Amino acid sequence: MDEIRAGAGAGRPSPAADAVVVGREIRPTAYPRGEVRASDFRVVEVGVRGPQQGEVLVRNTWTSVDAALRVRLREKAPPGYFPAFPLDQPMDGIMTVGEVLESRADGFAPGDTVSHASGWRDYAVVEAGKDALGGVGTLTKLDVRGTPPQAHLGALGGTGLTAYAGLFHVAELRDGDVVWVSAAAGAVGSLVAQLAKIRGHRVIGSAGSDEKVRHLLEELGLDAAFNYKDGPLPDLLREAAPDGIDVYFDNVGGDHLEAAVGALRTSGRVAICGMISEYATEEPSQGPGKSQGPGNLMLAVTKSLTIRGFRGSGHTHLLPEVRRQLGAWLREGRLHCRETIVDGLPQAPAALAALLRGDNTGKTLVRIDGVAHRENPGG
Ligand SMILES: NC(=O)c1ccc[n+]([C@@H]2O[C@H](COP(=O)([O-])OP(=O)(O)OC[C@H]3O[C@@H](n4cnc5c(N)ncnc54)[C@H](OP(=O)(O)O)[C@@H]3O)[C@@H](O)[C@H]2O)c1
Repeated sequence: MDEIRAGAGAGRPSPAADAVVVGREIRPTAYPRGEVRASDFRVVEVGVRGPQQGEVLVRNTWTSVDAALRVRLREKAPPGYFPAFPLDQPMDGIMTVGEVLESRADGFAPGDTVSHASGWRDYAVVEAGKDALGGVGTLTKLDVRGTPPQAHLGALGGTGLTAYAGLFHVAELRDGDVVWVSAAAGAVGSLVAQLAKIRGHRVIGSAGSDEKVRHLLEELGLDAAFNYKDGPLPDLLREAAPDGIDVYFDNVGGDHLEAAVGALRTSGRVAICGMISEYATEEPSQGPGKSQGPGNLMLAVTKSLTIRGFRGSGHTHLLPEVRRQLGAWLREGRLHCRETIVDGLPQAPAALAALLRGDNTGKTLVRIDGVAHRENPGG
């Protein structure tokens, strides 16, 4: 492991003498071409300084692994999105939870469990009140009574917000709607599918393995599910929804979106949450001639469809409602949240690669062991 003597807090270098702890952080060293490889990253040891006025020092315990990180692992992120990760720098803007070790910020005390956006490292100095990830990642003290802290990276955090906002506010779920969710065994998809079931809808899920299909039917209680690798998508979808669908929650894009446009009934709605099938391409559908999207868009006219892209971070005002409502459903056992847990910070890149390959179910998380840290490196 390399050792460098730079401060890891708030992006400001600080001399080694200021460091109160040695932490590790993951840095990208090359932008992946095609598949993400662990060798595109390195683990760096850094001296982390203590907090200044308005800041807290946090020992991170869990950090999130999200499909959308792939979109930022390139020279330029798509317009309107969070910025690309600079090479050889800490990866700012990844959700994480941890424990406050030292606080110089009002409202935070040692021992508090917090969420923030300085993930993929084991220690972080975080400025209270500073906007991160559109507000989702701003330093927040968490109520962890009755729910494990990492739930705030899943159902009770940005993942839950994305599912809730996308289904209820973007797709505007209505009584009687038949709903198709793609990547339905993943973090966002499994929540969307369950939320629609809780509201009494017929829900169809698709995923990339027979084991995941069983999970959707047996554990999540969906009405129908199919493995999208089993044949032409329009046929698989027709079999699952012979009379068509009213809402499509899109996590995949490409051929999935095209099949949905074909199957949607008049006045149907699509919430485009993500397009993971395009993330490994050089420039995901960003300009003329780049589209891998639907070749049947004229049907949006003939069937009066509404197709809306959205970002969970555009609906941050719903977070308290999401925490309250999904928290209640979690505690009542009405929401099942599987987790794919990877142990050890250095495994974060491999966990991302596995997620992008589909080797995950539910929310993918890294449990940070904290074993490698040394306190008071200078002392
Ligand atoms: N708009 C927002 O604010 C927002 C926020 C969070 C996430 N998202 C989007 O939501 C989607 C899910 O993200 P997540 O973090 O929850 O990940 P996830 O669903 O837990 O994992 C991604 C899943 O995508 C599936 N997949 C990968 N490549 C595929 C392909 N070529 N075709 C079909 N399925 C494929 C894999 O499952 P299979 O085994 O089923 O293939 C994999 O498990 C992504 O598109 C992400 O960008 C959007």
